[in-house]
Amino acid sequence: MIKIQVKGLKKSFLERRSRMRFPGQCFHRENCLVLNDLNFSIERGGFTCFVGPSGCGKSTLLRIIAGFERASDGHVLIDGKRHSSPSRRHVFVFQEDGLFPWLTAWQNVAIGARHIQDPEKRRQEIEEHLDLVGLAGFENHYPHELSGGMKRRAEVARALITEPEILFMDEPFGALDFVTRIQMREEMVNVHTMFDMTILFITHDIDEALQLGDQVIVLSDRPSSIKADIKLDFPHPRDLAHGRIAEIRKEIYYQMGLHPAL
Ligand SMILES: Nc1ncnc2c1ncn2[C@@H]1O[C@H](COP(=O)(O)OP(=O)(O)OP(=O)(O)O)[C@@H](O)[C@H]1O
Ligand SMILES: [Mg+2]
Repeated sequence: MIKIQVKGLKKSFLERRSRMRFPGQCFHRENCLVLNDLNFSIERGGFTCFVGPSGCGKSTLLRIIAGFERASDGHVLIDGKRHSSPSRRHVFVFQEDGLFPWLTAWQNVAIGARHIQDPEKRRQEIEEHLDLVGLAGFENHYPHELSGGMKRRAEVARALITEPEILFMDEPFGALDFVTRIQMREEMVNVHTMFDMTILFITHDIDEALQLGDQVIVLSDRPSSIKADIKLDFPHPRDLAHGRIAEIRKEIYYQMGLHPAL
């Protein structure tokens, strides 16, 4: 079943730059096209990864789908209905630290649990979600007392406890070290199998997209269009070095103007 449909989506911004710095860049006060006629659909419960060069409009696209920003043309359908405003069931996890620094891990997750009326059930849910992301024992730690990976885990717990229909993740693991990033990927695969939600995930990392996604959308340089919309029907765990998935990996590298072997 289709959850999200993006039809003829365009977005342009008014540029404020006083001079053109490279050929093709927009002039001052020119309407500059960022997203150019995007068309795609996302299955309910799907895990869709977006990759594309920096500045191509990935964050802008997610903000429009989430209803935080208006499209210049075209529209977004969610469950078949036109959608243009934020919803409590659509939750964002950003790259930067999103935890409240004056609240403990427990209190931060509790912010996402305000819809649970019964105090005992709320307490239980918070405990279970902290446990799920491996933060049991760190409930009373403030964000500055947590590692980068732990902070991301607390944010994921806070997002999940809201029972989102759609989880938007904008390069959530971009600032983490290599090992922690791989661990977080494993956890996302688990989370996706446990929860009934649609995930839209931006990453710069082609391997991350191939390990996580069941759909990868590759965007071109600005004004960006869709270079490839690939379905990944491979079970987990995925070995990117062999078989069809290795071929897809090469194709994406080439499509992004990169060489897969250095
Ligand atoms: N509010 C705004 N006003 C003017 N221009 C904007 C605005 N928001 C984004 N842009 C421009 O739109 C383009 C796309 O920005 P966006 O942040 O969506 O890119 P991105 O693909 O997420 O980049 P990155 O990978 O670096 O995060 C950029 O050139 C940016 O300057
Ligand atoms: Mg971005």
